[in-house]
Amino acid sequence: MAPPIDHPVLDVALAALDAGRQALWRTDSRAVLATKSSRSDPVTATDRAIERAVRDAILGVRPHDLVVGEEFGSAGEPGRLRWLVDPIDGTVNFTYAIPYAAISIAALDASGALVGVVWDLGSDETFIAVRGQGAWLGDTRLAVRPSVPLADALVGTGFAYDASVRAVQGRVLAAMIDQVRDVRRFGAAALDLCWTAAGRLDAYFETGLKPWDEAAGALVVREAGGLVATDLVGIGDDALTVAGPPGLFEELSERLGEVLADVRGPVGDVSAS
Ligand code: IPD
Ligand code: CA
Ligand code: CA
Ligand code: CA
Repeated sequence: MAPPIDHPVLDVALAALDAGRQALWRTDSRAVLATKSSRSDPVTATDRAIERAVRDAILGVRPHDLVVGEEFGSAGEPGRLRWLVDPIDGTVNFTYAIPYAAISIAALDASGALVGVVWDLGSDETFIAVRGQGAWLGDTRLAVRPSVPLADALVGTGFAYDASVRAVQGRVLAAMIDQVRDVRRFGAAALDLCWTAAGRLDAYFETGLKPWDEAAGALVVREAGGLVATDLVGIGDDALTVAGPPGLFEELSERLGEVLADVRGPVGDVSAS
């Protein structure tokens, strides 16, 4: 179904998504080719094929843009739009055939994220957002859940690949688990953000996300009325990302700040846009 919003850059993003989908269906290999930053960080031929297809589709019609992807880094020219591509967000799930993984594509201009599209390859759902035009799933306009106290919140999270960051994340989780309704670790940050936008989670947090993990999903949350901070003081050099409805967003950010201070030292400001 055509989305009820319209933007020329959205057309490019959706065409690139389609090119990525075709590459997925052509390649469809779940075998781990190699691990990258750690043994828990796999890559498949499908990740690489999708990224090539998405990048080529974007640069084919917008040769003066810059495309930055997880697997191949930068291609094109800096200056106009900057695209952030996660060819498969949730590669570990993909290698186990767990149907929670996505292609995530964002286009950014000088003011930040302009367009975000996230396609869940398990459910065939496509989350779409255009700055100022809302966030959509098919013809349904998305809205974050109404704010609830943290103690009543179902909160999504995830873990970095770096072992020392993971160790701290484990301590944060241990401190948070009795302060919320429950915690979910589904395994794909872009979808976790879209699910927050769709009201399937109350809120979400993670330390150490990369720009391609969160750019599209964060726009989907903001256009669904939520707040997102991607630059809170986290663990070492890894920033903390928090998303949720106004009210719960602040409570969760502040609580995480306190917990992080307990487990590893002082924490900076809570700010959102
Ligand atoms: C990962 C997933 C995971 C999150 C990690 C990400 P990848 O992305 O989004 O849920 O916890 O931080 O790196 O490697 O599957 O694209
Ligand atoms: Ca990866
Ligand atoms: Ca990712
Ligand atoms: Ca990825």
